[in-house]
Amino acid sequence: MSSVNNDIIYLKDYLPPAFLIQTVNLEFDLSPHETRVRSTITFTRNQERNAGLPLELHGNELKLISVEIDGQPLSESQYQITAEQLIIPDVPDQFVLKTDVQIDPANNTSLEGLYRSNTMFCTQCEAEGFRKITYYPDRPDVMAAFTTTVIADKTEYPVLLSNGNPVKKGELDNNRHFVVWQDPFDKPAYLFALVAGDLQVVKDTFTTMSGREVALEIWVEPENITKCDHAMASLKAAMKWDEEVYGREYDLDIYMIVAVNDFNMGAMENKGLNIFNSSCVLARPDTATDGAFQRIEGVVAHEYFHNWSGNRVTCRDWFQLSLKEGFTVYRDQCFSADMNDEAVKRIEDVAMLRTAQFAEDAGPTAHPVRPDHFIEISNFYTLTIYEKGSEIVRMIANLLGPDLFRKGSDLYFERHDGQAVTVEDFIGAMADASGIDFSQFMRWYSQSGTPELTVSGHYDAAAQQYTLTIKQQTPVTKDQPEKLPLHIPVKVGLLNGAGADMPLTLSAGEASGAQGDHDRVLHLREAEQVFVFENIDEEPVPSLLRGFSAPVKLDFGYTQAQLLHLMRHDSDGFNRWDAGQRLAITALKAMVTQFEAGQIPKLDSALTEAYKGLFESGLNPAILAEMLMLPGEAYLAEQFDIVPVDAIHACRNIARKTLAETLNAELEQTVAANQLTGEYRPLAEDIAKRRLKNICQSYLMTLEADAVVERSWQQFSTADNMTDQHAALTALVHSKQDEKAKAALESFEQQWKDDALVMDQWFQVQASRPHPDALARVKALMEHPAFSLKNPNKVRSLISVYCNQNRVNFHSIDGLSYQFLADVVLELDGMNPQIASRLITPLTRWQKMDAKRQQLMQAELQRIAAADLSKDLFEVVQKALP
Ligand code: ARG
Ligand code: ZN
Repeated sequence: MSSVNNDIIYLKDYLPPAFLIQTVNLEFDLSPHETRVRSTITFTRNQERNAGLPLELHGNELKLISVEIDGQPLSESQYQITAEQLIIPDVPDQFVLKTDVQIDPANNTSLEGLYRSNTMFCTQCEAEGFRKITYYPDRPDVMAAFTTTVIADKTEYPVLLSNGNPVKKGELDNNRHFVVWQDPFDKPAYLFALVAGDLQVVKDTFTTMSGREVALEIWVEPENITKCDHAMASLKAAMKWDEEVYGREYDLDIYMIVAVNDFNMGAMENKGLNIFNSSCVLARPDTATDGAFQRIEGVVAHEYFHNWSGNRVTCRDWFQLSLKEGFTVYRDQCFSADMNDEAVKRIEDVAMLRTAQFAEDAGPTAHPVRPDHFIEISNFYTLTIYEKGSEIVRMIANLLGPDLFRKGSDLYFERHDGQAVTVEDFIGAMADASGIDFSQFMRWYSQSGTPELTVSGHYDAAAQQYTLTIKQQTPVTKDQPEKLPLHIPVKVGLLNGAGADMPLTLSAGEASGAQGDHDRVLHLREAEQVFVFENIDEEPVPSLLRGFSAPVKLDFGYTQAQLLHLMRHDSDGFNRWDAGQRLAITALKAMVTQFEAGQIPKLDSALTEAYKGLFESGLNPAILAEMLMLPGEAYLAEQFDIVPVDAIHACRNIARKTLAETLNAELEQTVAANQLTGEYRPLAEDIAKRRLKNICQSYLMTLEADAVVERSWQQFSTADNMTDQHAALTALVHSKQDEKAKAALESFEQQWKDDALVMDQWFQVQASRPHPDALARVKALMEHPAFSLKNPNKVRSLISVYCNQNRVNFHSIDGLSYQFLADVVLELDGMNPQIASRLITPLTRWQKMDAKRQQLMQAELQRIAAADLSKDLFEVVQKALP
């Protein structure tokens, strides 16, 4: 890898392409080690650029067989080849380029470009993988109509797929056959896809709003043919939803999804031919948990929604990645909210954002939602681009309201259909549709870091006024020394003593929503701003940042009584949950202080009482389940400057035990009341009951009474669905019942050893087991026949889960886990740089650890930095070094 250059690419250096393309003809002659790719491309000089510029094409790891222009073969003196480019200095203004290259898919372990997964061929081109297939201007602002001929052995690869419609097929000699695919829509190379294999299909149809029938096909390896129903149902629901909510209709006559086992990410929106990580498409009640069912619904929808937000309107350059990803995540979040419980979906999304994205935004790889430089774009498929990007779109939707937001999105799609555009184009459409001024708001795209709001309330009884003073400040991040005030929508309500929302009349400060409404969106623009509410006849409890109206941290200095009031009465489901989280954080922090002072930590009985109240509050099972969960260790870690990793783990466990003891009767009752009978259904209502039951049972398991352990064992042995089997397996494996844990693991392995996705869960349960032998077990499991470092799902299930979700063990003060992670990352970097550079994340977060751990973590980073690294890993390690 020493041939790679680690140049930084800047947004400010963007120039339009020197050449545009009319048509692309590709011919693939597939063979595992010697695939030939012949391309015929019509180029025209772009009038926007200078005359006389050379033709510069990207190309990585290609063996050039021949190159010709307008039928004339070029001699070696007529072009240059570097590790990353083919340069032809002398070309006419218009010409046909033909190249013939050879590639080696079977040795392509990066899972980028054309590669093998099991016995099939598949592709992943986003962001810059197409250059590993052929020489091409591999940038999203070069769009063209593709015709693709796929040739392969008929027996081994009976199914040959690419983008668009199949227009011709036939037989060749030597038992070979071919299919020609034509994609009528211009597209950038990153949306190209090809699949060849011995696959089976589940077919269905969808009739679009204008009455066109679209063929829907899910292609899988034969053993997975029984696992496609849920993805198909999700696809149809997503197609319908996009018509109803965004007025977007599908445009081709066929929509295909292919499931592959070896995949770096979740899925890919290639035009008409989505390629999915099998974990994001395959599900059957006995093999997939409720969580997996919901994830599949969300990811299938996400990729489908990209057909408009991404494909019909794409990105001008990769700095604009969040233009398609942030918008599409927002769309899939709203879809999932509509299909399930809206408040629960919001709680889950915010919990993830606040735990993982906030940590990213405070760490050494912090970057704006639109970065202004990168070395390797693959490193920017981040929580910031996706999740914070989605929060920005959500803020826009909230600022505009549903009607204007729809008007803005219609305008965006209409104005830019077929174009490669920028964030400014998106915001421009929203601004033109609404008349709102987004100039300050644009800072959300350019400024990294999580803003912190400090709010204080003052009640003036004589004047019947309530004043909120809001200060904002964004802490400096490693990438940006200076921060400016943002335009932040803060949705508020005021609760009276009876817990009802008071009508709001604002006399100072800007807000949207009508005077007299029960909640208003305050527009915070200054570093400090005052908002005054009139006719307030008693001191209210403010409910701030309802629905998490902006991705910020908020400090109000709530009293315990105020939080209890919000937890009981807030009409905003999200804030009701969040009040409970705030109470729990206060209680757990107090325990950490006791723990560190050498005392026995004791859980504040006010929290126990509050939790007890939840059981009598008539909450629906979905919300009750969420509210019964203590904040996770990772989110608790976020509450400290230096993370007391052992104390957090110990105190959270003690708190769980205390709750289990004190609320034993309620927990038992809830377990009993939420046993479902009848056939498994992945419906929100049933999912909530299973979740509530399993959460209560896991509290009870902390006490390890025989009857409770026996109940887990029974559930494990008799469950007819993976949700219950998996919950029981986790309960047993994470308990101190070593023998039962061992028996359950063995039985599970026996039952599922031939199902790769279920075995991923088997690895995860063990990797997250909080027992002191965890590292030894993880190392031993790396030798298990079902494990492979080459398969990203396996790496994530075993190694990522251990390093991210088994925090006490990962941060063990002997430093052995740090060393372990560094070893794995170094080994993996030679095979799959994208996965290596993601895997290293927990080691880069040394700033939040104590001095001793900092030093151990930094030493491992230094050791990695000394090796010959991929661009991907180089960029991350450089940023993470002290
Ligand atoms: N565009 C895909 C999605 O979000 C992600 C693919 C990115 N893949 C990659 N290897 N960087 O749906
Ligand atoms: Zn996406």
